[in-house]
Amino acid sequence: MTEHRKLSPGKLIIASHNQGKVREIRALLAPFGIEPVSASELNLPEPEETGTTFAENALLKAHASAQGADCVALADDSGLYVAALNGAPGVYTADWAEADIYEGGPGRDWYMAMGKVEGKLSELGPDTDRSAYFTCTLALAWPDGHAELFEGRVHGNLVWPPRGTMGFGYDPVFQPVGFEKTFAELDPQQKHDISHRADAFDKLVKACFDQPV
Ligand code: IMP
Repeated sequence: MTEHRKLSPGKLIIASHNQGKVREIRALLAPFGIEPVSASELNLPEPEETGTTFAENALLKAHASAQGADCVALADDSGLYVAALNGAPGVYTADWAEADIYEGGPGRDWYMAMGKVEGKLSELGPDTDRSAYFTCTLALAWPDGHAELFEGRVHGNLVWPPRGTMGFGYDPVFQPVGFEKTFAELDPQQKHDISHRADAFDKLVKACFDQPV
């Protein structure tokens, strides 16, 4: 059996500048006596995601924050795999939303990104397989260079038009298996019970925490 390094209560950097992810990770950490601080609160630089896998990118972000703040750091790299698009947008999920939408600089336009996925699916015809899954890789890194990795998934189908106002990113078009609502229509607690992030987080908790405090 693999020996995992345990995480003690105390400060932990959430190595993300994505407010949606930070909010969800904070809620998932709440029962464990952890004091989460986000990388943006500490003005830590955001490393470029140059990896070609979720694990590489999660490790890049976690190590950068762990070194920058001299503290344990948790990073999440996640994305959407669409079966009929051979897994796209996959590791490039965030890139599909890059757009010049704000005055004075680029930003992320999720409606454009969801529309891009829908456009490619509709090119394949009305009977196209609309199944997809979200994947989340969590990397936990210590300042001495040690790291732990955990992966979680949630399966579902893509709907159109987008529905709901909660959540973030592609939530309005993702309907998890067994539910009539999209992630953006579900109560955040219901999303936390079943999401890819919660699945990866359960694995991290079993490996690295003794038990909730
Ligand atoms: P990255 O992990 O920062 O490269 O970004 C992955 C992108 O995947 C996010 O910016 C979101 O658009 C999308 N994504 C990841 N998790 C979720 C989720 O829980 N709901 C909706 N979109 C998500």
